[in-house]
Amino acid sequence: MTSIKGTNLAILASGTGTNFKDIVESAQRNELPVEVKLLITDKEEIGAIAHAKNLQIPFVVIKPRSFLNFDDWDHEVAETLVNYEIEFVVLAGFLRKIGPHTLEAVKGQMINTHPSLLPSYGGKGMYGINVHKAVVENGEKVSGCTVHWVNDHYDEGQIIGQKQVEVLPDDTPESLASRVKAVENPFLIAVLKSVLSKNQS
Ligand code: GAR
Repeated sequence: MTSIKGTNLAILASGTGTNFKDIVESAQRNELPVEVKLLITDKEEIGAIAHAKNLQIPFVVIKPRSFLNFDDWDHEVAETLVNYEIEFVVLAGFLRKIGPHTLEAVKGQMINTHPSLLPSYGGKGMYGINVHKAVVENGEKVSGCTVHWVNDHYDEGQIIGQKQVEVLPDDTPESLASRVKAVENPFLIAVLKSVLSKNQS
């Protein structure tokens, strides 16, 4: 299949990488106007890296622990994005705060997906299963996911779109997590497509 030259995209991930995998496969089917140039992770041996190897996407592990401070780590991430000529970044389960140099490297062209209806259940410590635990414990009737622009505060950038998921009476954090994820994967791709088409018009 011939590929259409699209926006140079990097994905940052810290976990299983289902969103990463779905974005790469959509791009490889020419359903998204991007070239996924790079995966950046903050951990070794995670699912996202296994997917990157299978899908032949270059990956770089940039562990905060290898740097003296946050600023040095932020510089390294920014420099990596510049070296790979990245134009747009998707945070797909990336659990670290993004620094100002990283944001500047792509001129703020960075979106994040979060597994709740922000501004509820966002902020430091609210990620992955922790979010769903809190939602179930509080007896919420509705949850979902949010895609938003990234700024240098956790989960506070401008909201682009949200998708609701009903919380069922017998939901556990795990069952809710898997239903939210099933909706989140295609929703992130649809939002990414829409944002890029606006950028290009
Ligand atoms: C996704 O549900 C994403 O919303 C969440 O991590 C999961 C990653 O799944 N992100 C956050 O909680 C960020 N605050 P994946 O590794 O299978 O794509």
